Amino acid sequence: MLRHVTAIRYVTPLREGGSLPGLMEADDLGTYVVKFHGAGQGRKVLVAEIISGELARGLGLPVPELTTVDLDPELGRAEPDQEVQELLRNSPGLNLGLDFLPGALDFDPVAFSPGPEFAGRVLWFDGLVGNVDRSWRNTNMLLWHRSPYLIDHGATLIFHHNWAGALANPAAFATRAYDAADHVLLTAGPDLDAADTELAHLVTGELLGAAVAAVPDAWLAGELGFDGPDEVREAYVRQLTARLDARDAWLPGIRAAAAGADGNRQVTRAPNPPFTLTWPPRS
Ligand SMILES: Nc1ncnc2c1ncn2[C@@H]1O[C@H](COP(=O)(O)OP(=O)(O)O)[C@@H](O)[C@H]1O
Ligand SMILES: [Mg+2]
Repeated sequence: MLRHVTAIRYVTPLREGGSLPGLMEADDLGTYVVKFHGAGQGRKVLVAEIISGELARGLGLPVPELTTVDLDPELGRAEPDQEVQELLRNSPGLNLGLDFLPGALDFDPVAFSPGPEFAGRVLWFDGLVGNVDRSWRNTNMLLWHRSPYLIDHGATLIFHHNWAGALANPAAFATRAYDAADHVLLTAGPDLDAADTELAHLVTGELLGAAVAAVPDAWLAGELGFDGPDEVREAYVRQLTARLDARDAWLPGIRAAAAGADGNRQVTRAPNPPFTLTWPPRS
């Protein structure tokens, strides 16, 4: 289960991405990046954020804490921006919160080398969940207190946008090649063999079960072709298990892409400011 908080103030919109997340204060004195179920992309991106985010966390990858955030749309009443007002009005009840990392930098692959071990693990994970949104144009990685964090997993598990097709042909997602050509860490010398050795055995039924259990029923209810939220959860677990078991179909492609990647985009100069990334983060 994710921790649950109640929003008490809208602070400001975050306009870097496309979905207009909002920075909000909550009743626990915390500040959260809130992603709204009433945004154009709908609730499925929030489901993907939770399942992939919790899966990454279970694999030891750094992801800001996820919470559910209760929203009273009245909080948007005084907002001068019509788009924000509308978004809040359309998002009563449960929304998704990420622990806000104040002052975090967008990860710049030209300035910081994350190292083969970390790069391999992130690429392996992105291949598993089919993340199409970690390119060098839009890294969806943050740098905070010298440690990298993974964010924005809304564009993963894309099979759920067509459940009928996924149920009819589960092998299609399981075996689909992962296009790593634009991945931000492709030129960082990712060690995919080490990642596979370290991570594959961690993707257990227990971990997948915990990740899908963290999704609120409300975001799974009413899915066509399923008899309730738990059936949808089981389908996610089946799809991800099949994907894991089909690594021979997609992992060699990533390995080959990494081996053939030119290092042009890679770090050639000393990081500025001069420090090395700390990973895993110091606790
Ligand atoms: N936990 C966080 N802490 C600090 N900044 C964040 C956090 N999450 C997102 N951001 C900032 O907000 C931007 C948009 O968030 P993101 O999850 O990528 O949403 P989008 O779907 O709009 O791309 C990010 O590029 C980043 O700059
Ligand atoms: Mg983004």
